[in-house]
Amino acid sequence: MLLEAPVYKELFGAIEIYEVQKVIKLDTQTRDVGSFTVKNIPREDIYNILEDIAIVVPMKNEKLQLVDGVLKAIPHQCPIILVSNSKREGPNLFKQEVDLVKHFYNLTHSKVLMVHQKDAGIAKAFQELGYTDILDEKGTIRSGKGEGMLIGILLAKSLGAKYVGFVDADNYIPGSVNEYVKDYAAGFLMNETDYGMVRLSWRHKPKVGKRGLYFRKWGRVSEITNRYMNALIGEGTNFETSIIVTGNAGEHAMTIKLAEMMPFSTGYSIEPFELAFLFERFGVWENIEEYKEVYNQGIEIFQIETLNPHLHEEKGKEHVADMILSSLGVIYHSKLASNRLKEQILEDLKLHGILKEGEEPPKPRIMRPIEVIDADKWMKIVEDNAETLFKFEV
Ligand code: GDD
Ligand code: MG
Repeated sequence: MLLEAPVYKELFGAIEIYEVQKVIKLDTQTRDVGSFTVKNIPREDIYNILEDIAIVVPMKNEKLQLVDGVLKAIPHQCPIILVSNSKREGPNLFKQEVDLVKHFYNLTHSKVLMVHQKDAGIAKAFQELGYTDILDEKGTIRSGKGEGMLIGILLAKSLGAKYVGFVDADNYIPGSVNEYVKDYAAGFLMNETDYGMVRLSWRHKPKVGKRGLYFRKWGRVSEITNRYMNALIGEGTNFETSIIVTGNAGEHAMTIKLAEMMPFSTGYSIEPFELAFLFERFGVWENIEEYKEVYNQGIEIFQIETLNPHLHEEKGKEHVADMILSSLGVIYHSKLASNRLKEQILEDLKLHGILKEGEEPPKPRIMRPIEVIDADKWMKIVEDNAETLFKFEV
């Protein structure tokens, strides 16, 4: 793969954030590229690292045709982890998903782990190990994409993966999913620390309008989240920046070592919260002893602009408003945010009709890092108790 070599990066404490890198050529075999402004990641290197990247697909009531395309597009070497929160009655969509995955496995022999988010056996594992962060008052696992991802990370760890990447299940273009995973691989091959993250931004996000397909450059949510995420960095460093273009990147990946030590927030606030947490905790040289290794090695964040457009399911205006609210809630409640920034956020939310006078955006609900959980014990309890855990491997 040929990527733009990052000319510019932003340093924020122990964090290095690289400017967005565009894909120039999706697939290259050559090792010689006579240009310093182009980064070459040979195909062979990408294929060698894929087996270490577990791909987590969170899903909830998505069209089976889309899920099918996503499964078929994930490179064969990557273990796949499906965490479903789909309906189990009236109709039983989960059963249909299981049938689909069984069929997919029979055809391909890809390594797949599948589980239902509400499985009482998984809740029991969290409960017994004292990790109630993901449970509601009744002791069941809460709904939410973030919750599904956290389960996915634990399963990835149990498989011994070195990296974990996420792809949404509602993607209309299977070929784009194939690219996302290779973009993750390229990012990890550029990363030099144990604490690396790769976040994808879309070249275009097509919408169907009156005049046919319109290739939007920015989604509404990402535009507003990125602006405030950049402002948040400005508050921390005193230098304004425009480096962040992936504040909401649902398609992203990280080293397991990074995933283990990060707290996650629930639902759709998870992606902006990852950045806000890293900035708050590692943007400053404070309490270095607690995370000595991280400070020694540093954290690298890569942002790659995909070649493929991103075409996914439209989930309505209310959903978009919710996402803006929870994303800005993360920034608003960050300890880096000044009163001035908070005021701006409130004004903006009111202007968009998302918030009323006197209201505040919600504070993100935080789940502690999974490193507090003994992953082997957790997996043992899950294996002994879960009713929906399906393991497909040769
Ligand atoms: N396991 C699980 N549990 N999965 C869920 C849940 C849940 O409660 N809710 C949603 N999902 C799945 C969806 O089925 C989909 O595969 C994925 O999470 C993303 O959800 P969407 O509802 O499609 O979100 P979106 O497309 O509006 O937003 C996506 O893109 C944003 C910007 O890139 C998400 O990935 C956001 O998190 C992201 O910020
Ligand atoms: Mg979607």
